[in-house]
Amino acid sequence: MHTIKNITCIGAGYVGGPTMSVIAQKNPDIKVTVVDLNKTRIDAWNSDDLSLLPIYEPGLDSVVKEARNRNLFFSTDVDKAIDEADMIFISVNTPTKTYGKGKGQAADLKYIELCARQIARVAKNDKIVVEKSTLPVRTADAIKSILNNTGNGVNFHILSNPEFLAEGTAMADLENPDRVLIGGENEDAIQALVNVYAKWVPKAKIITTNLWSSELSKLVANAFLAQRVSSINSISELCEVTGANVDEVANAIGMDSRIGSKFLKASVGFGGSCFQKDILNLVYIARSYNLNEVADYWQQVISMNDHQKQRFSSNIIKTLYNTVNGKNIVFYGWAFKKDTNDTRESAAIYVADHLLDEEANIIVYDPKVSAEQVYSDLDYLGTRGPEENRRFVTVVNNPVAASKGAHAIAVLTEWDEFKSLDWKSIYANMFKPAFIFDGRNVLDKNSIVEIGFSYKSIGK
Ligand code: UDX
Ligand code: ADP
Repeated sequence: MHTIKNITCIGAGYVGGPTMSVIAQKNPDIKVTVVDLNKTRIDAWNSDDLSLLPIYEPGLDSVVKEARNRNLFFSTDVDKAIDEADMIFISVNTPTKTYGKGKGQAADLKYIELCARQIARVAKNDKIVVEKSTLPVRTADAIKSILNNTGNGVNFHILSNPEFLAEGTAMADLENPDRVLIGGENEDAIQALVNVYAKWVPKAKIITTNLWSSELSKLVANAFLAQRVSSINSISELCEVTGANVDEVANAIGMDSRIGSKFLKASVGFGGSCFQKDILNLVYIARSYNLNEVADYWQQVISMNDHQKQRFSSNIIKTLYNTVNGKNIVFYGWAFKKDTNDTRESAAIYVADHLLDEEANIIVYDPKVSAEQVYSDLDYLGTRGPEENRRFVTVVNNPVAASKGAHAIAVLTEWDEFKSLDWKSIYANMFKPAFIFDGRNVLDKNSIVEIGFSYKSIGK
């Protein structure tokens, strides 16, 4: 049976970084090396000042502090780390394709393929290769085919071990997962990975399946979660026209144990690197097997989400007397959810894009997102040039000062600190009527209205 002494993880991002930190913390006898092509990112992981780690995740700094340079290492020497490893996690990004066949839907697997080729080139002894990134079903086939055709006599075993951590709560999710899923074909290889997790996860929570079930389960878990958000968001619109209150409805249905209370918070729309990408993948796979009804069914979860973002920005425009041209709209929050500096697919980006089309000025305050990130998100959309984005969007680091001369405030992320801002001073700073559009239903309506604001939330 394999005893793992050396683990390498390719990709030091939101998944690889936290996951390997916890694996290293719980397995002091295993040397864990996280490698990345991006030197700036690796330097940040190695920074003495733990506030400079490249990703913000509550509790991550103390685990890195405990394990780093004991049995946890961050490096750019990918070849050396591959050579030394018994087990290699592939944790690189798999963005939606922006070109060619499957554009806008299929996952771009070029980074995965590059990794597989690099492993094939460097490996001199047998290795277990673990897919950690979310991948379309049957990707393992492609990896296997690349690895097994090197002709260098090395044996590779492929495992699928999808990550279920959610950003912002990643450390707690890793420490105490609902389940760990391992898919594979070779019993010894599966057992080797089970042993790594069994150091801290109860055996009953470690489930093993065939490769394809594991790959598909990851996509399906995210699709089901996203579907719940789109479902409650669809009801939020109905609540607004009927006089029902979406929080009351969510509470009433969530107490049905068959439904459950989680993931029923109406919002401006879901974001993040997984939900949309994974559903698009599911849709693409279904279509490629000619399962058009299946594809349409899941596509609707995304359409509903697009509608919710569009509805939010349209409501701002309508309320501000049908024009936002030249008006100052302050965004509180840019990240796709609280407690992370990740902005991938954040609703804020699309709401901003729509308001910029209407020639609004946007002032962004987010406690953890940098100005460079905000501009790079807007530039990436390609709706308008970088100069225009910089002319009409200002990023600031003081939320109260941001409101000077503002016509409206839009809450895009549910950061806790927004609840206790100095709302009286913010009100004094603004044009009247002073509007607040709470895209996360986080503010206390009564006290906000008492100050004098005109307050609009989702689904009420
Ligand atoms: C998700 C899955 O939860 C995780 O298991 C998987 O590994 C990766 O994808 P993540 O994207 O980090 O994790 O965040 P999640 O907490 O799932 O939230 C996704 C989006 O849905 C966020 O924009 C969030 O604000 C939104 N959301 C979530 C709601 O609008 N309402 C809810 O009730 C829950
Ligand atoms: P995730 O949320 O899936 O962790 P990220 O984009 O945060 O995604 O992280 C993926 C990381 O993988 C990036 O830091 C990127 O530089 C790295 N990466 C991509 N391809 C390779 C490769 N061939 N070798 C090493 N690192 C890679």
